[in-house]
Parts: sequence; structure tokens; C-alpha cells
Amino acid sequence: MRLENRVALITGASRGIGRAIAREMAMEGASVAVNYFDDSQGVNRSDADRVVGELEKIGPGAIKVGADVSDFGMAAGMVEEVLSRFGRIDILVNNAGINRDATLKNLDRQAWDDVLAVNLTGVFNCTKAVIGFMSEARRGRIINTSSVMGQAGGFGISNYAASKAGIIGFTKSVAREVASKGITVNAIAPGFIETGMLSSIPEKVRESLLKQIPAGRWGRAEEIGRLAVFLASEDAAYITGQVVGINGGYYM
Ligand SMILES: NC(=O)c1ccc[n+]([C@@H]2O[C@H](COP(=O)([O-])OP(=O)(O)OC[C@H]3O[C@@H](n4cnc5c(N)ncnc54)[C@H](O)[C@@H]3O)[C@@H](O)[C@H]2O)c1
Repeated sequence: MRLENRVALITGASRGIGRAIAREMAMEGASVAVNYFDDSQGVNRSDADRVVGELEKIGPGAIKVGADVSDFGMAAGMVEEVLSRFGRIDILVNNAGINRDATLKNLDRQAWDDVLAVNLTGVFNCTKAVIGFMSEARRGRIINTSSVMGQAGGFGISNYAASKAGIIGFTKSVAREVASKGITVNAIAPGFIETGMLSSIPEKVRESLLKQIPAGRWGRAEEIGRLAVFLASEDAAYITGQVVGINGGYYM
């Protein structure tokens, strides 16, 4: 198993791509901390409980840790909690993300701020919180979830695309800073993956998008999970500061 004795903290892991990454990492022997953001209905908390139950069956151990990644103090507290429960963090997957789509004409300040706060500041907050521990351990893997939209842009998503492009600059800069400490920092740039986020796109738009994907199908969350496992493994020790596209040929 490629991630035996490793501890992974995965943000936004109560569903979608985060859940799939958690499952793939647990199958490869990692203990997993499932971060979730509790909404007012407690929806994500019960999802996180379900994911922890699944992971306990397939891997060595799992816990849930609630935190809004856009909150600096909460992100730091989450990392402290994982360190106190598991003793270390070898892998951080910054996966939590939201979209509030609108053309620039209709995009309000709140939608801009919210998306940047979760998608970009959230990556900063969690990375900042783990970097001290990883530097001392002289080992670590940080995997940030960008998007093909951060590479190519897209109609009606300037806030989302800006946040995902920002992740790329952040990834490359931090990769340079920590490479000598045995820490790699890479970004995954998924194309269109079958999750709740994809189903929020109107049917007509989805039909036209599908025609533009050379592979002729949507991506699967497990495919992102297996890429994350590879980047977290010893096999990827010499890969850092990279943006790995996984998009069926939509963007080359
Ligand atoms: N689905 C796609 O096609 C696609 C494509 C490219 C990139 N991505 C990116 O992949 C990541 C996962 O997306 P998904 O499709 O699984 O979406 P999703 O909406 O199913 O999952 C997003 C997760 O992030 C969590 N989250 C939201 N705000 C949070 C916060 N403030 N703090 C902590 N967690 C928070 C949600 O609770 C949820 O668990 C996102 O960063 C997204 O931008 C998705």
C-alpha cells in the first residue's frame, strides 16, 4: 500500500471529490481526517459521519474535523486537532471549494468575496497551519485543488476562475519555498467531474460542454482520488510545483 502509516487531512471531504480522495487514500493505507463545514441544517456533519464510517471499514482509521477553511483561526484549530488525535499530518489536500456563478455584470461583491475566501484564502489558511509541522518533520505532501477554469477561464465564473488561477500561483511559490524540506506542493486541475458542483450547471450548458470533451464523458471523482494518491506517494517525490490537468482532453 502506497500510503501506509501516513496521515491525510482532506478539506471538504464530506462529499464529492473530497470524499473520493479520502476513500482512495484510505484504501492505500492512510489514516484520514475528514474536514467538513457544518451548515445550519447539520447536513455536512451527517455526511461527514457517513464518510468516516465508510473509511473505517476500508482503512486504518478516520476522524471528522469541522472547520470553515475560510476562517484563519478555525483552520489552525483543525490542524491542531488532527495533530493531537493522529500525532502528525503527512498529506494536506486542499479540496474545499464553492462556486457562485454570474457574469461580471451581475456578479455582486459578496459572491466575489465568498468564493475567494473559501477557494483561495482557505488554501492559504490550511497550508499556513500545517507548514510548520511538515517543515520540522522534513516531509510532506500538499495537494491543492485548482480547476481547468483557472487555466482556461470560463463564461460567468470570473470569481471562481480567479480563485483557481490564484491557487496555481500559490502552489508554485510555496513549492519553491519548501522543496528543500522534503515537502512537495502540487495542484490538480480537474475538468468536469460528476459531482454536485457539476449538476448545478444548467442542462443546456452541460450538453454543450460534453461535446467539447474529446474523451466524450465526464470525469469521475475516483479518478481525481487516484491522481491525489499518486501525488501523495513516494513515487511522486520529485514532482513539485506542477499543475496536473485531469480533464479528458478538454484543455491541453
Ligand atoms: N466537480 C467539478 O467538475 C470540479 C472541477 C474542477 C474543480 N473542482 C474543485 O474540486 C473541489 C471539490 O469539488 P466538488 O465537485 O466535490 O464539489 P462539492 O460541492 O460536492 O464539494 C465541495 C466540498 O467543500 C466543502 N466546503 C464548502 N465550503 C467550505 C468551507 N468554507 N470550509 C470547509 N469546507 C467547505 C463542502 O461542504 C463540500 O464538502 C472544489 O475545490 C472544486 O472547485 C470541481
